[in-house]
Amino acid sequence: MNAAPVLVRLPDQGNEPVRNMLARVESVATVAPGYCRITVASPGIASVRAGQFCMLGSVDWREGRERMLPRPMAVHEHDRGNGTLGFVCKLVGDGTRQLANLTPGDRIRLIGPLGHGFDLRGEGPVLLLGRGVGTFSLGLVPSQVPAGRPVTVLLSARDSARLLGVDHFERLGCTVLTVTDQDGTSSVPAVADLLQARFGAASRPGLVLSCGSRRLMDLGFGLARSWGARMQTSVEANMACGLGYCHGCASPVGSEDVEAPLVCVDGPVFELRPSGTTNTGEEDAEHEHTVAVG
Ligand SMILES: Cc1cc2nc3c(=O)[nH]c(=O)nc-3n(C[C@H](O)[C@H](O)[C@H](O)COP(=O)(O)OP(=O)(O)OC[C@H]3O[C@@H](n4cnc5c(N)ncnc54)[C@H](O)[C@@H]3O)c2cc1C
Ligand code: FES
Repeated sequence: MNAAPVLVRLPDQGNEPVRNMLARVESVATVAPGYCRITVASPGIASVRAGQFCMLGSVDWREGRERMLPRPMAVHEHDRGNGTLGFVCKLVGDGTRQLANLTPGDRIRLIGPLGHGFDLRGEGPVLLLGRGVGTFSLGLVPSQVPAGRPVTVLLSARDSARLLGVDHFERLGCTVLTVTDQDGTSSVPAVADLLQARFGAASRPGLVLSCGSRRLMDLGFGLARSWGARMQTSVEANMACGLGYCHGCASPVGSEDVEAPLVCVDGPVFELRPSGTTNTGEEDAEHEHTVAVG
């Protein structure tokens, strides 16, 4: 039986400074019922680490009025040539509907890039496990994985209409596996069998990354342990500021003598370790937050 996973803060990554700007909306397009892609100009943002996010807010810029508190959105695409960032947004409430109502030429409040992204160092194939909006946090990974490390992406969704990102990951040279609740292929035993069959002894992943599903995270953690691979996951939380001020995104802590990590500045990406692991590795000696997964 596997030990329960805990979340451990990743080392600081030397991220570029956070920008706070009114960015120009380049395009807003429906990509599936209830989902839109928002592309914004991002002058001055040179590098975004896979897994980082921005706070996005709809602005009535002609009247100089912010319509909403910004919402966290993972950076799904970064076109350095054109100087744009791409986000895929699921419409769930008032904030995301306001974002979807923007039109080209509008301005959008953009604060970012924010948070700790994935740590892609190491060797061996890389396995990505994504479900729902969690898929979008993984979007930059394939283009940032060092050359020579093949990337396999397992995308899980309720039904085929909600399987988003297949084209994106195939375009980036990944092997894409899809499973859905609708056809009965997304259960934990079925996905475990699929992945065990895919990765023989000679091709086992050295890194497993997940986002968007507790079940997939637990499954990935068990597989990663059996393969001797590292595992990281991106955590979601409601965020009012995204900058570490409001403490609204604090995670539940595993013991009383450590401060609760904030998902926005300590995450959103954390390393997963077996419960009881102490942070004595050279990479994380200064990062002592060990957090029970909620
Ligand atoms: C790191 C990260 C990355 C994410 N990436 C993506 C992504 O790529 N794509 C995607 O679709 N989703 C993503 N999400 C989820 C997305 O942020 C939420 O779906 C979105 O915030 C919902 O906003 P809403 O207003 O539409 O929904 P609501 O349910 O109306 O609001 C969501 C939450 O926002 C807060 N809130 C709303 N109004 C106020 C207010 N007036 N004052 C204070 N707080 C308020 C509340 O905590 C509320 O529960 C991500 C979340 C995180 C943390
Ligand atoms: S969202 Fe305000 S501290 Fe994290």
